[in-house]
Amino acid sequence: MNTKNFKLFDRGDSWYELCFDQPDSKANVFTEEALRELDSVTEELSKRKDIIGLVVTSAKKDIYIAGADINLIKDLDTIDKALTACSAGQQMIHRFSKLPFETVAAISGACLGGGFELALACKKRVASDARAVKIGLPEVMLGILPGFGGSTRLPRLVPLPTALDLILSGKQVDGKRAFKMGIVDAFLPEQDFNERAIAWAKQNINRSGRNVHTFMTRLMEMVPLRGVVFSQARKQVMKTTKGKYPAPLKILDLLAEIHGLQMDEALKREAKAFSQLAVTPISKRLIEIFQLTEGVKKTNGVSDEVKATKVERAGLLGAGVMGGGIAWAFANKDIPVRMKDLNWDGIRLGYEQAGENFGFALKKRKLTKPQFLGKMGMISGSLDYSGFRNVDVVVEAVVENMDVKKKVMAETEKYISENCILASNTSSLSITEMQSAVSRPQNVGGLHFFNPVSRMPLVEVIAGEKTSKETVATLFELSKKLGKTPIVVKDGPGFLVNRLLLPYMNEALFLYEEGVSIERIDQVMLDFGMPMGPMRLVDEVGIDVAAKVAKILNQAFGARAEASPVSEEIVKSGRLGKKNGKGFYKYENGKPTAVDESIDALVKSRTTKSARLSDLDLVKRMTYPMINEAALALAEGVVATPGEVDLGMIFGTGFAPFRGGLLRYADSEVPQQVAEALEKFSQAGGGERLAPNQALREIARKGFFYSGR
Ligand SMILES: NC(=O)c1ccc[n+]([C@@H]2O[C@H](COP(=O)([O-])OP(=O)(O)OC[C@H]3O[C@@H](n4cnc5c(N)ncnc54)[C@H](O)[C@@H]3O)[C@@H](O)[C@H]2O)c1
Repeated sequence: MNTKNFKLFDRGDSWYELCFDQPDSKANVFTEEALRELDSVTEELSKRKDIIGLVVTSAKKDIYIAGADINLIKDLDTIDKALTACSAGQQMIHRFSKLPFETVAAISGACLGGGFELALACKKRVASDARAVKIGLPEVMLGILPGFGGSTRLPRLVPLPTALDLILSGKQVDGKRAFKMGIVDAFLPEQDFNERAIAWAKQNINRSGRNVHTFMTRLMEMVPLRGVVFSQARKQVMKTTKGKYPAPLKILDLLAEIHGLQMDEALKREAKAFSQLAVTPISKRLIEIFQLTEGVKKTNGVSDEVKATKVERAGLLGAGVMGGGIAWAFANKDIPVRMKDLNWDGIRLGYEQAGENFGFALKKRKLTKPQFLGKMGMISGSLDYSGFRNVDVVVEAVVENMDVKKKVMAETEKYISENCILASNTSSLSITEMQSAVSRPQNVGGLHFFNPVSRMPLVEVIAGEKTSKETVATLFELSKKLGKTPIVVKDGPGFLVNRLLLPYMNEALFLYEEGVSIERIDQVMLDFGMPMGPMRLVDEVGIDVAAKVAKILNQAFGARAEASPVSEEIVKSGRLGKKNGKGFYKYENGKPTAVDESIDALVKSRTTKSARLSDLDLVKRMTYPMINEAALALAEGVVATPGEVDLGMIFGTGFAPFRGGLLRYADSEVPQQVAEALEKFSQAGGGERLAPNQALREIARKGFFYSGR
């Protein structure tokens, strides 16, 4: 009964182990072949009268079953095809669920999507305490829903709020949490797990599965209360997605619809709902983003021949806003980090910053008190370079001033080992120029984290002219180890993300000067899907900082980066944005309360020129300049691929993920039409600032940013 993917072992006492071991792969994934084989094994097993029980295990380290093959889902282009494919897989798992003997899933690794749906089709589940255990249904993050029976089975296993929470958020839980939630029936040590799981299964055969439905949750099954649960969940979904993502809303409709239905009918409706979502462009865009991030995991940013150095200890210069966040990132991954600042006040700030993040995890029970203390213990501080001799990397996060940075780097070099890498967190200064201050420039690179470090997933790894490939690879691997998504970026003004974001913020300021209200500018971009309107973003970054960066880019790029005079004019009046509580918005306790209309009188140059532009034209005026600049950045090799631009913009600025990133959006708008619209804006007064550049024209001539469309 053995197949390529599945092996059956006799475990005595009429018990069998079915081990999933996909050939030539580190993971087990439900490919078409694996599913077909599972079905044929199920068929054979169903005929056996001698079997008492079957334990489903995995031969892979850290992975149980990672889910269904994502390419299969990506290729589904009609509802009919999607329905056929989903129903076929779902029925295979459903047939497995009907095996006439005990079935137990033994989970000691990632058990996600289709993998968890198979586990749900088993009569019982056990999980190990291995760190690698991650159980969840992440389908919603790909714009779809669990369609192999998961949407139907999970709400029958655990209380409705628990099921909704898991399916709507796509969150993954470890074995202990899964046990507490009632998803698994036992929680066993990692060592010899498969043996333990089989022994447990034999011992507990006559016991029914755990029942975590309390009186309260039974009560919740009553119609009026269930309605309340659904309406609360819908409110929450609308709050977090602003209705831009169809999958969570469809999940809510489906779960309400199938409650109490016969299993077969519920499964039919589940497959139908899946197929409707699977063909949406939003799902395709979300799958592409997922594949881009998976791609990052498989590279070191350079090439396989280049070896990265493992970072086991780190040093940090400047324990301010960014320094504290970066110290947290190291400690969070158990890398000891030594902070150095000019005074103890600075060090205290760094501790506070890191402590706040760990404190939050403690409050949310993601860390225990001893774990919290252990993490904080990873961070130490000093006013000199003691302890720097043994570190593998030093991240510099001192003030944004080239002379200071050069001085600090030259000094640091004297206290670190020969191979130690020196990385700057600068957001705008040249890495190549910093290299001129040291004797080992090959060890210097940029490591640009975004603020706040704990929440922003992107890191730009910047290669200066003399940065070695090993340095780039080490910084790339380090970023991944810190849980971030890195992209390799060529040195240059604004690197990638700020270079593209600035034209957007700048254009918002021009529109404001041309008579469009702050509220309207922000609202159209929120409706577009940005996490924050550009005027609020200027406040957030600091009106003075935005003005300074705009000036730097203007000097570097000339007329095409003409800076709006509005921010300088406003800064002169003493408004700096959120940090001093005075900006385009009014603030109370650091939170914006309303647009501050009194600001209009400060901008003497304000006209009414663009006040009547349509919402769509406003969106184009603000987003097309980013596309224009991205075309140029790609042509200059700032990053190598459109995918990296999209990763950068989604993870560095929150650019609407459902649009697939800036350049997927550009392709959906059609580059030719983007160029034509820019030409019109240019002629209507935007001049060189809004004129389509040669690189964009070239792409427009060829078709699209992404090939193979
Ligand atoms: N704040 C942001 O949003 C952000 C985002 C990305 C990158 N950055 C970059 O990060 C760097 C730090 O910015 P920040 O906002 O954290 O600044 P900050 O002013 O909060 O912190 C700077 C810290 O450096 C210390 N310092 C100054 N000179 C030093 C020296 N010679 N040795 C040791 N410490 C010294 C200061 O005492 C202060 O604690 C800058 O290069 C900035 O451009 C900032």
